[in-house]
Amino acid sequence: MILPGDKSISHRYGMLAGIAEGTSKIANYSTGADCQSTLRCMESLGVPVERLDGMVLIHGRGLDGLRPPAGPLDAGNSGSTIRLLSGILAAQSFTSQIGGDESLSHRPMPRIMTPLAEMGARIEARDGRFPPLTIHGRPLHPIEYTLPVASAQVKSCVLFAGLFCDGQTVVREPISTRDHSEIALREFGAEIEVQKRTITLTGRPRLQGRELAVPGDLSSAAFFLVAALIVETSNLVIRGVGMNPTRSALLDFLAEMGAELKILEIAETSGELAGDVLIRKSRIRGGLLEGARTAALIDEIPVLAVLGAASENGLVVRDASELRVKETDRIATIADNFQRMGLEIEVHPDGFSVPGKQKFHAGELDSFGDHRIAMAFAVAALAADGPSTIQNAGAASVSFPEFYDTLERVSE
Ligand code: S3P
Repeated sequence: MILPGDKSISHRYGMLAGIAEGTSKIANYSTGADCQSTLRCMESLGVPVERLDGMVLIHGRGLDGLRPPAGPLDAGNSGSTIRLLSGILAAQSFTSQIGGDESLSHRPMPRIMTPLAEMGARIEARDGRFPPLTIHGRPLHPIEYTLPVASAQVKSCVLFAGLFCDGQTVVREPISTRDHSEIALREFGAEIEVQKRTITLTGRPRLQGRELAVPGDLSSAAFFLVAALIVETSNLVIRGVGMNPTRSALLDFLAEMGAELKILEIAETSGELAGDVLIRKSRIRGGLLEGARTAALIDEIPVLAVLGAASENGLVVRDASELRVKETDRIATIADNFQRMGLEIEVHPDGFSVPGKQKFHAGELDSFGDHRIAMAFAVAALAADGPSTIQNAGAASVSFPEFYDTLERVSE
């Protein structure tokens, strides 16, 4: 099977192509609603976008070419869209408003507002912290910023703002996060230097349109990898999936827990690695996620919770309080669905403990509008003793509109 393009990489290509000079041709751009929100925002800022068969063409307007939008920008459900694009909007010569759906309207924005304010930005937020944001664009100055939370969205927001500053913007990360922005910036022609966890970007580069291909989304692959591990007699090959080392901790963790998986044909395209993964039903021992590893696997935790319940010894997750401010409070929505399936879970403020060797009972499940909860519990439902229903199952389309069709196809 082949998966739609990586969501994180698609956002970055979509935005950087819009402020580059010339046309970018992007193959396998994510079909998820979130990445379409990014493209629609770029269009509202005057960037022509053409959608061709499996390909997106973006006619970049250059660093100073964005135009004031006619109305508020809609980031939909997408935290990456609002947080990354705010870095670009803060440096424009016009005022813009950006907001999104009910879930996005409750996600914290001080994490980007603080560094952007340090750069000289003027941003107003609902109750001082939530979307919609009103961003009064103005000239910014470079800063040196140490991230207080491990967040690739915050890092990227500061770097994107730094593109518009004269001089060098420096971001320091206490814990490494996904480095797709650094790779993409380099690909589009920015001068960027990375030393351990310190990133230095030189402002006012001439970004050039590029031909790029987005690898398959490893976070989407996670649902199928776990399904293959817990469903009898399974055997699955996923081709062309992203293997960026800042994302592939998932494969190491699965292997450590006993997954029989093989990685083949790793190749590099535009600075990003992709390869094929072969996996089959395996005896999973269970494990512990904490510290930097929790940060690296933050999006995969809902489906890993499901795997934990099916494992021999269970799964303990710590240092995951960021889960509480995702599309839903994922600690709460995982626990709620566990209860609906008769599964045991002990909730902690920053994680949970799931005993192993549990029996999955069919039930009435609910995504609570969160794509990763919908997909994680569709996988859990495969292991249940009868048919389950999932309320708000359509939320999956936020990252993976083809999810249920693909699941049906591979379960045959
Ligand atoms: C993302 C970063 C992560 C991740 C999100 C996508 C990105 O969020 O959970 O799904 O594309 O940079 P944080 O930066 O909030 O950790």
